[in-house]
Amino acid sequence: MGLAGLTHISTHGAPLSHTASMVTSQVSSVFTARALTKTYGEGDTAVHALRGVDLDIVRGEFVVLLGASGSGKSTLLNILGGLDTATSGSAQWTHDGAVHELIGADDAELTRYRREHVGFVFQFYNLIPSLTAEENVALVTDLATDPMDPGEALALVGLAERRHHFVSQLSGGEQQRVAIARAIAKRPAVLLCDEPTGALDCATGVMVLQAIERVNRELGTTTVVITHNAPIAEIADRVLRLADGRIVDSHVNEHKQPASALSW
Ligand SMILES: Nc1ncnc2c1ncn2[C@@H]1O[C@H](COP(=O)(O)OP(=O)(O)O)[C@@H](O)[C@H]1O
Ligand SMILES: [Mg+2]
Repeated sequence: MGLAGLTHISTHGAPLSHTASMVTSQVSSVFTARALTKTYGEGDTAVHALRGVDLDIVRGEFVVLLGASGSGKSTLLNILGGLDTATSGSAQWTHDGAVHELIGADDAELTRYRREHVGFVFQFYNLIPSLTAEENVALVTDLATDPMDPGEALALVGLAERRHHFVSQLSGGEQQRVAIARAIAKRPAVLLCDEPTGALDCATGVMVLQAIERVNRELGTTTVVITHNAPIAEIADRVLRLADGRIVDSHVNEHKQPASALSW
C-alpha cells in the first residue's frame, strides 16, 4: 500500500497530544502504544526487554520490525498480539471504531482477541505432520466465525496443488506457507510474523515473503514482520528499527521492493 503520505505520523518520542490522536484516528490506527516497557525478573538480574516504546501502526500497513537478536522485537510483537503483557505503558488495538486496551486486559479477553483477530506466524511452523495441508488449515477454520475455505487460503499462498499432501511431504518453505494459510484463513485483522524466514534459505524465504506480501495487498491485512535480516526490510511500507528495547528509527520505504527482488 502506498503510505508515503503518512510520514507525518509520529512513531516514537511524541506524547499522545490531542492533535496526534486526531491525526491517528483519521488514518485508522490499528495499534497505538505509548511508553511501553517490559522488564523480565527483578533486581540485579532484571532484563529490560522494552525501555519505552511509542508506536502507531495504521490499517493495511506492512511494517517490518528490524533489529539485532535481543533488541526486544519478539517481546513487542507478543504484547501487540496479546501473548504477553507489558510492565508499564499502554497499548491499544482499534477495530470497527472501538478501542481495546491490551494492557490490563484479562486472560479471557486476550484469548478471545488472539483467537478472533490475530494471525501468528512463527519461525517454526507448528503444523501437525500427520494431517494434510488442508486439514491443518481446517483445524482453524472450523473454529472461526467467517473463515475462508481452506482451499482458498492455500491458493493465496500458492499451494492449491498441494492441498492434499501431508505436511511431512512438504518442504520447509511449503510448510511455512501452510502456516501462513492457517494464520489468515480466519480473516484476522492483523498478521504478526516472528522471523518467518529464519529457518529458510533465500529462494525459499522469498516465496514465503511473497505469500505474506500478497495477503497484505489482496486482503488488506495489517501486517508486522520481524526480522534481523536487513534486506527483508525493503518490502515494507515502513521499517521500525529496534535497538536495546527502543525504537531508534522509523522510516517509510519510498521505493518499496517486491519480495521477488530480494536476495540475502
Ligand atoms: N521470558 C523471558 N525471561 C527473561 N528474559 C527474557 C524473556 N524473554 C525475552 N527475554 C530477554 O529480553 C530481551 C529481548 O528479547 P526478545 O524480545 O526475544 O528479543 P528479539 O526478539 O529482538 O531477539 C533479551 O535480552 C531476552 O533475553
Ligand atoms: Mg525474537
